[in-house]
Amino acid sequence: MLSLFPSKALCLSLFASLLLTTQAVVPSSSAVLRPGGNSDSNANFTVAINVPSGNSNELYFHFSSPAGNSYAAFGIGSQMRGALMFIAHASEDGKNVTLSPRIGSGHSAPTPTDDVKITLLSGSGIINDTYVVNAKCSNCRSWSGGSADVLSDSQSMLWAVGEAGEIKSNALDARIQEHSRRGVFNLDFKAATGDAGVPVVDASSDNVDTIGPGSRGGDGSGPRHGIAFHGFLMGAAFLVIFPAGLVLLRVFEKVWLHWAVQSFALLLVFIGTGVGVAISKRDDIVSYSLYTIMIMNTGLTNVKEPNLTHPHQIIGFIVLGVGLLAWGIGMTGHVMFRRTGKPAAIMLGHRITGPVTMSMGLSNCIVGFRFAGNNRGAIIFAVAALLMIIFVCTVLFFTRRRKMRKGTMNTPAAQNFREGNMGGPTPYGPQSPSMPSYGQGGIPLASYQNNQPPPVYR
Ligand code: HEM
Ligand SMILES: *[C@@H]1O[C@H](CO)[C@@H](O)[C@H](O)[C@H]1NC(C)=O
Ligand SMILES: *[C@@H]1O[C@H](CO)[C@@H](O)[C@H](O)[C@H]1NC(C)=O
Ligand SMILES: *[C@@H]1O[C@H](CO)[C@@H](O)[C@H](O)[C@H]1NC(C)=O
Repeated sequence: MLSLFPSKALCLSLFASLLLTTQAVVPSSSAVLRPGGNSDSNANFTVAINVPSGNSNELYFHFSSPAGNSYAAFGIGSQMRGALMFIAHASEDGKNVTLSPRIGSGHSAPTPTDDVKITLLSGSGIINDTYVVNAKCSNCRSWSGGSADVLSDSQSMLWAVGEAGEIKSNALDARIQEHSRRGVFNLDFKAATGDAGVPVVDASSDNVDTIGPGSRGGDGSGPRHGIAFHGFLMGAAFLVIFPAGLVLLRVFEKVWLHWAVQSFALLLVFIGTGVGVAISKRDDIVSYSLYTIMIMNTGLTNVKEPNLTHPHQIIGFIVLGVGLLAWGIGMTGHVMFRRTGKPAAIMLGHRITGPVTMSMGLSNCIVGFRFAGNNRGAIIFAVAALLMIIFVCTVLFFTRRRKMRKGTMNTPAAQNFREGNMGGPTPYGPQSPSMPSYGQGGIPLASYQNNQPPPVYR
């Protein structure tokens, strides 16, 4: 029974965790805009969209921007004329936001529209001096003068913020002044299509606006390199090296080989985690949008450390911890085996922590891709992981079967067979009189079921 445990449990848990993680988050596309770079802290802007596939007119979105500006707005369209815009300013009591849908008519104030219905959802408000909007919008995919292309992977979007100041009103047609800054960006509506819900900002979605006056920002390359390196290390460890270490152990039965390969994989995870922490800590797009996620997810506004609290990061730390544990138990158990010549009981712990590390790590790679806003990466990785699991399980299965076959060949019956004692005189010597023959209640053929190879507890 025990000898069955690791490969079966490993395969099952890998499948289960893969299923769970591929549908954890509402599909979304998001942009984090910092048109003024680090210098202009009042012009930053986060917008995320979700396109529910269950109906043909709704959209969900999240957006946030500093409340120091009298209003903040985003729109669907490539220019003001014909764009559907959403203008956020303070509500009458100054605590919540009023979100007003308006249609652009050129380079003048856009016109409020009654056709489009907004429902503010929980988490909205003026939170820590930031307009935070979580909303569902009905009749939102086409409007008089334009429409959103939900099949587009680069729908043109607009953003704008008003002058410093305050507009406190519940009216959906409050007067607004011309924006002080504005620009365009793109969202991937196609990738944002699926289950309905308020989208979560993808922490890495940096975007550069293209027409804001004096606007340059989104120093995307720095963090991107770090993220890619982090992803590469983790992907290599969990998709290739850890599985290889398992297969090598089973196929060649060499503990030192297993030790070397798994140690190397764990080292990559260790370095990868360091890189992950570094990119999370960097005072840039990543940490700002993590902070936004915090506000949205928890409703907490007094969060001190905006870093390291996303599920991806927490699972990551757990994976590293369990991985170290697996390494420690494996090492100790093997040393005990070498000393006593008997399998150490604690190796059972290794057979649990090892597969847990591998399956959690693999799942967390997918969570990481989604965290990074890389949906395509998540899908490609999930497919690769599935192929890897099928490959590993197949190899383990045939290795087991080969060992069982060997076991069968070592029974007395098989030995007699090989030595030619088939029940009659042979050219090599006299027949053994005590030799029973098959099918007559003689030595039973060893069946695969009760001829397991001994558990490998080294
Ligand atoms: C050990 C388990 C971990 C695995 C398997 C893992 C895997 C990944 C993967 C595959 C990505 C996507 C990379 C890309 O899109 O190119 C990613 C992104 C990321 N991971 Fe991890 N990771 C782990 C642990 C951690 C930890 C402990 C942290 C930090 C505390 C962390 C922080 C991040 C960050 C910040 C990103 C980028 C998100 C963004 O784009 O803003 N990861 N991870
Ligand atoms: C973005 O806005 C927030 C909220 O006002 C502010 O705390 C933060 O410093 C800004 N970040 C950047 C990079 O400008
Ligand atoms: C703002 O209004 C929405 C919708 O009524 C509500 O869910 C949210 O809690 C309000 N926010 C604050 C800060 O009062
Ligand atoms: C706003 O956020 C800061 C940390 O970024 C925190 O120290 C402060 O308490 C928050 N303010 C409110 C009103 O929650």
